[in-house]
Amino acid sequence: MVKANENYLKLPGSYLFSTIGKKVREFGEANPEAKIIRLGIGDVTQPLAPSIISALHSAVDEMGVKESFRGYAPDLGYEFLRNAIAENDYRARGCDISADEIFVSDGAKCDCSNIQEIFSLDNKIAVCDPVYPVYVDSNVMAGRTGSYDAKTETWSDVIYMPCTADNGFAPEIPEKTPDLIYLCFPNNPTGATIKKAQLQEWVDYANKVGAIILYDAAYEAYISESDVPHSIYECEGARTCAIELRSFSKNAGFTGVRLGFTVIPKELKAGDVALHPLWARRHGTKYNGAPYIIQRAGEAVYSPEGKEQLKAQVAYYMNNAKYIYEGLKSAGYTVSGGVNAPYIWLKTPGKMTSWEFFDFLLEKVNVVGTPGSGFGPSGEGYFRLTAFGTYENTVEAVDRIKRANI
Ligand code: MLT
Repeated sequence: MVKANENYLKLPGSYLFSTIGKKVREFGEANPEAKIIRLGIGDVTQPLAPSIISALHSAVDEMGVKESFRGYAPDLGYEFLRNAIAENDYRARGCDISADEIFVSDGAKCDCSNIQEIFSLDNKIAVCDPVYPVYVDSNVMAGRTGSYDAKTETWSDVIYMPCTADNGFAPEIPEKTPDLIYLCFPNNPTGATIKKAQLQEWVDYANKVGAIILYDAAYEAYISESDVPHSIYECEGARTCAIELRSFSKNAGFTGVRLGFTVIPKELKAGDVALHPLWARRHGTKYNGAPYIIQRAGEAVYSPEGKEQLKAQVAYYMNNAKYIYEGLKSAGYTVSGGVNAPYIWLKTPGKMTSWEFFDFLLEKVNVVGTPGSGFGPSGEGYFRLTAFGTYENTVEAVDRIKRANI
């Protein structure tokens, strides 16, 4: 008889942002007069930049003409996009990454959940706590995480690296040796980041113990400080121990357009097995490529006009981040993040749990954020607000929270 993948049954509850979406929907239906401001999921609100719109229009027109029509995209992405990525995101920053080490996809969420497939189920993963839930959940689905302890909200076979106020929300090298290390900087959810020298320590450690770092750099466009690395390949030795995941969602507003990429250097190996051919095989077999139209839009991100327009868009969101940070700090909240990342991480007031504060804000001031405990046990007592709202809504939300005077 057919059997389901029982690993799915081990997952506690639904995906964090689905749970929040449902709660907010139900509240909205019960309170139709409420003007809800959503600063929960990190979804952008500014329209696509003009240079991207123009690239989309041209590509659509090409698809309507026999001579320029395109069918299936090349497995690993069009050369024009992979060359633009290699040149602008890597070579311009002194990183030795070539176009044929870049795999274009429909976004970093899919890539960071799928990448574990090319590793053995015996591998032990290490994650920051709190952490973007996709890293852990995808390993649960694969059957790599052991059993769940509802009391501690942890998995028996996962190595947790607590990121707390005491360590500046930066993980420390764990006592147990992991095989796969998930790192995300600038960090989702805490908005914290690490300096290049700290990242170099991780690279040296991974090379020493034979581990691989899965480095999520989805928020690199928000880095404002000069000693913070934009790519793990800025570190010496990263080509032999790191895979990097990137997204166009946050730097170019592609959350609804969908585009991302993964970098796997040719010399990266698990034991004596090269990983580049494995991911190429997986990509070729399970994926038909991001659409031509969207890849042309991605190319426009790297045009001189695109770069200018997106710099302004990032500055718009970071102005929101500053408003939230300073507004809540002046109201007595303990806040962090918001300097190199579009997320503000705040301590919940009094003895409120993360979900109590979520309910309070939703019900009393109609503002939606994300409970820190949804990202892991060390997130309890914290709350995340995103800077991706409109400026007007951001100002209104902060003012409402201040007026609530908790
Ligand atoms: C978040 O809110 O953590 C992100 O928007 C989720 C994502 O990028 O998938």
